[in-house]
Amino acid sequence: MGFTTSQPIMKDHIMASDKGLEELFEDTLRDIYYAERQILKALPKMARAAQSEDLRAGFEHHREQTQGQIDRLEQIFELLGQRPRGKTCDAILGIIEEGKEIMDEYKGTSAIDAGLVSSAQAVEHYEIARYGTLKTWAKQLGMAEAAALFDETLKEEVETDKILSQLATSQANRKAA
Ligand SMILES: [Fe+2]
Repeated sequence: MGFTTSQPIMKDHIMASDKGLEELFEDTLRDIYYAERQILKALPKMARAAQSEDLRAGFEHHREQTQGQIDRLEQIFELLGQRPRGKTCDAILGIIEEGKEIMDEYKGTSAIDAGLVSSAQAVEHYEIARYGTLKTWAKQLGMAEAAALFDETLKEEVETDKILSQLATSQANRKAA
């Protein structure tokens, strides 16, 4: 299959130590564990910056939810017989950094809530991508209990995203009225 003429390369491939789905799963689990803890720290700042009471309350509620999601991840580490450990997630650091920029640049303006919602949705979409993948991999690795825990969190993230969309629409409508 195309490799037939490159025997030395084949040999290198065989000699390199293999990494399997289990390792990728564990790395990704550490990535989202790191991300959730960053989100936990960012949410109170977002709540303070919000102008609308609904949005502020939404961020405060999601902070509590995030603590529960971190607890679930710790349960999954326990199922693996591992101590919970994070792995720096550059993606979430970038998304949170952009959120901080919006907070600095739009503080006290009429666009701040729209900016906060857009940052929060970027966070949610990242999490939805990660949790969807982790749920699938957990199933493939025969970890039904972990898959169920990922699914609980995934549902919360999808619901949060929906609430954010509704807030964005109702705010835009109020402003237009
Ligand atoms: Fe989360």
